[in-house]
Amino acid sequence: MSLDLIVKGGTLPDGRNADIGIAGGRITAIEPKIESEAGRVVDATGNLVAPPFVDPHFHMDATLSYGIPRINASGTLLEGIALWGELKPLLTHEAVRERALAYCDWAVSMGLLAIRTHVDTCDDRLLAVEALLDVKKSVAPYIDLQLVAFPQDGFYRDPTARENTIRALDMGVDVVGGIPHFERTMADGRRSVTELCEIAAERGLMVDMHCDETDDPQSRHIEQLAYETQRLGLQGRVAGSHLTSMHSMDNYYVSKLLPLIAEAEVSAIPNPLINIVIQGRHDTYPKRRGQTRVPEMLKAGIRVGFGQDCVLDPWYPLGTADMLDVAFMGLHVAQMTSPADMAQCFRMVTETNAAIMGLDHLGIEVGKTASLVVLEAGNPVEALRLRANRLCVIAKGKVVAERSSSAAKLDLPGRPKTVDRRHRLQN
Ligand code: FE2
Repeated sequence: MSLDLIVKGGTLPDGRNADIGIAGGRITAIEPKIESEAGRVVDATGNLVAPPFVDPHFHMDATLSYGIPRINASGTLLEGIALWGELKPLLTHEAVRERALAYCDWAVSMGLLAIRTHVDTCDDRLLAVEALLDVKKSVAPYIDLQLVAFPQDGFYRDPTARENTIRALDMGVDVVGGIPHFERTMADGRRSVTELCEIAAERGLMVDMHCDETDDPQSRHIEQLAYETQRLGLQGRVAGSHLTSMHSMDNYYVSKLLPLIAEAEVSAIPNPLINIVIQGRHDTYPKRRGQTRVPEMLKAGIRVGFGQDCVLDPWYPLGTADMLDVAFMGLHVAQMTSPADMAQCFRMVTETNAAIMGLDHLGIEVGKTASLVVLEAGNPVEALRLRANRLCVIAKGKVVAERSSSAAKLDLPGRPKTVDRRHRLQN
């Protein structure tokens, strides 16, 4: 049988060396040697061939808007929200679309081929919703883009948010969002979790809420989210994003909370780059890190991914669409530096994030969609250390991005002519 593409000689994340055969946009063979004819051969010898990176938490309506109309001087979440409020009336369909498409180009170049983006529904024009629905269609041949209806200014706190969030879902937005800690009272926050989960249950949708994105140890909407998930039979379809208050909660309470989250099969999506810069801003010293309890949740059997959240927007002045940056920061803040923990962090930004988004078609297995990334690294841990070059990105069976090796030429007396930062551990 003739194949469209063979990726030859790469190392898979589990350490196997294999050729990967691709035809009709699917993986048709994974074998030590594939001898068939192919339209194209990608040589991955000595490099890591991994499933694509997946970002389960992003804000594509705000991305690449850094500095418009001004920058966030305090760096806080609340000034970011106020600044986004200033920017919103200035948005146009075309500008949102162009910035989002430019970001998707970056994403593809970094092997990031599935993104869940929240889209603000607190705008009577729902202009960003329309623009991102357009973008979703445009990028469908290479990126799985999932939209979350996100009442950023509060489902109840903003006078038309409820109505507009429901309109956005009617327009085809995929996931129900929320922001309970931003409602006027703890009770309103709780009520919003209940109603939003009921809306998702009625419509058969997934839920992904910004939940307890605060340093307040009393912010406990994740408890309500786990409760509603179980009550409404939404197990496996709900995610709590950020969960930063858990960093500051009392240990005894957390020992009760984690099994409840696990039982309800609610996933957790910390966003390390953003949590480490936004949380703890009201502290002097010691200053809290504000990342949720990642190793403890993993130990409790909770599905935990890592999201990117922001790139060049009112909340974050940096970012490059690199999920290895996200995992790198996440493992530092969570102090997950054993080889097994680091390998897990790599899986979190690939396989686990895909599972959180319900994307069963991704992964390196025969029959799955042929979306892969060739990284200039020998294994997942090395990919993290190097934030490795993406040599080749394949989306749905087609090569969509390529780059050459990052080895540098050297001109030093008595030293080699090139330097390559790859490193084999010696036993
Ligand atoms: Fe977010």
